[in-house]
Amino acid sequence: LKVILIGSGNVATHLGSALMRSKHTIVQVFSRSESAAKKLSRKLKCGYTTDVLSISSKADLYIIALRDEAIEIFLSQFPVTGKPIVHTSGSVSMNVFKKKFKDFGVFYPVQTFSMNREVNFKTVPICLEAGNELTKKKIQALAKSISSSCHFIDSKQRKQIHLAAVFANNFSNHLLVIAENIMAHQNISFDLLRPLILETAMKVQAKSPQDMQTGPAMRGDLAIIREHLKMLEGKPGFKKIYRLISESIAEKNGIRF
Ligand SMILES: NC(=O)c1ccc[n+]([C@@H]2O[C@H](COP(=O)([O-])OP(=O)(O)OC[C@H]3O[C@@H](n4cnc5c(N)ncnc54)[C@H](OP(=O)(O)O)[C@@H]3O)[C@@H](O)[C@H]2O)c1
Repeated sequence: LKVILIGSGNVATHLGSALMRSKHTIVQVFSRSESAAKKLSRKLKCGYTTDVLSISSKADLYIIALRDEAIEIFLSQFPVTGKPIVHTSGSVSMNVFKKKFKDFGVFYPVQTFSMNREVNFKTVPICLEAGNELTKKKIQALAKSISSSCHFIDSKQRKQIHLAAVFANNFSNHLLVIAENIMAHQNISFDLLRPLILETAMKVQAKSPQDMQTGPAMRGDLAIIREHLKMLEGKPGFKKIYRLISESIAEKNGIRF
């Protein structure tokens, strides 16, 4: 397909590269920032523009990979209404297209993307939604060409997947930031925790996380919990999180302190 990418951030970069590897043609990149648009266009060997009105009308599909809040504003300014268009958001409803477009859908990759970090797109689940049969066929074929895990999911369920993903990735990563902070305070290398972090992620590839829970809250070990809370005296934010998650673990497992 001939694709135009709207946005030049994490998703536009990774998705654009995956599409290029699968022999699709990226015709043009749009971004409000000239330097970002230029950089991505070089990587994807295509043209770029920073002007909404100069976005080419000669593509088979337009993929919007903008920040969630920017999608609706962009659509209100975008003049090419007669071509299939999708966004990549986990939380923005497909209805955002309804007023102005005929062929529309959603192309949400369930993965965490960061610049300068390669991702194997073949294993990335892609949640698809389409407003009509024609778009359905088009985006399904596109998704299948870059990933072996494609699923049709409606807007309501996609929002739930995004919510779960925030817990699974964003919150767990923040907890690692806290762990890193505690280690750094003692001048101990974070490397010491890396095998533990890896095993935590590996275990749940084959088992339910519910069956893999360990730790003082799971054991109902109140003495250790009290000691940890005391150690976090000077860090009220961390202490709050420790208490909240310990209570959640205990409650989920029927443990009483
Ligand atoms: N990152 C992930 O792991 C991930 C995974 C799945 C889905 N998604 C979804 O994919 C979409 C893009 O996410 P991302 O991670 O690629 O975001 P990102 O790296 O922050 O990039 C967002 C893009 O939107 C542009 N932008 C932001 N505000 C804008 C505005 N007001 N007007 C015009 N352009 C604006 C940015 O331009 P500037 O550089 O000029 O700010 C940038 O090109 C989002 O809907 C997100 O929910 C993200």
